[in-house]
This record gives sequence, structure tokens and C-alpha cells, in this order.
Amino acid sequence: MTAQVLKAKPHTEKPATGLSDAARKKVAESLGEVLANTMTLQVKTQVYHWNVVGPAFYSLHKLTEEHYNDLFGAADVIAERIRALGHITPLSNKALTAKTDIDEETSTRSAGEMVEQLIEDHEQLIRDARMAAKEAGEAGDMVTEDMLIARLAFHEQAVWMLRAIAS
Ligand SMILES: [Fe+2]
Repeated sequence: MTAQVLKAKPHTEKPATGLSDAARKKVAESLGEVLANTMTLQVKTQVYHWNVVGPAFYSLHKLTEEHYNDLFGAADVIAERIRALGHITPLSNKALTAKTDIDEETSTRSAGEMVEQLIEDHEQLIRDARMAAKEAGEAGDMVTEDMLIARLAFHEQAVWMLRAIAS
């Protein structure tokens, strides 16, 4: 028999923080998409970190390490914001994959192709996060808006660095 204390399950909540239920739901859904994109890009970036070869190996190996560590940390912050909004995070890789706009890697890539892929993916994520930040701002959720603005700053810097390598 399971002890009573172990029977609690997560459920949606309605924090009375001045945000409407509809706004919290909409922002939580958008954050689920940003989370899915962030986690897919984290795995893809780490796969490139492991597999990159050629004269650019060291710089790309190091840069991708910085990026996947940031993405890993960001996923936690984004998911915990969904919880703070009273919603439950996506529950599985399958659920995340259904929400992502970023294609997982299925080919062996040259260093240059990896950089191009990463630029495209960061740019896609920026476009999605910008929309989500705008929605959050319009809903009066400045905390999510602020968090997403910080994410935009990271991804825009990542695009700059990757473009500098590609040029
Ligand atoms: Fe490593």
C-alpha cells in the first residue's frame, strides 16, 4: 500500500497573480514550444560537439560545448516557468518532439554544414521565442517576457558567432 504522502500528483493550478486563466494557458503552451525547440537544439548541438572533424574542430568543439550547456540550463528555467504559471510541462520526448520546429539530425555533416544547420535552427528558435515573448508581454506576463528576452539575447549572440565562423 502506497503511503498517503507519496500519492500527490501534479495538476494544473490557478495562482491568483493577476494573469487570466486563458493568458496563463496560452503562455504555458508557447513556452512548451520554446522548451521543445531548446531541448532539440541542445541534443543537436551536443551531437555536433562529438562528431565535428577538420581544421575547425577545436573552435567548433568548444563553442558547441558552451552552447549546449547554456541550452541545457535554459530548458530547466523554461520548464519551471511553465510550472509557476500553474501548468504541467510536456511529459515525454515524444510530446516534446511533437512541438518542435527544429529537425533532429539524421545525416553525417561536414563542419560547414553543421554551422549552417545551427544558424538556421537558432534563427528558427529566435523567431518562435520572439513571438512567445510578444504574446507574454501582451498578456501582462512580464516575468515570462523578461525570461524570453534573455533567451533571445543568447540565441542572437550564438547566430553572430556561428556566422562569423561560416564567413
Ligand atoms: Fe564534451
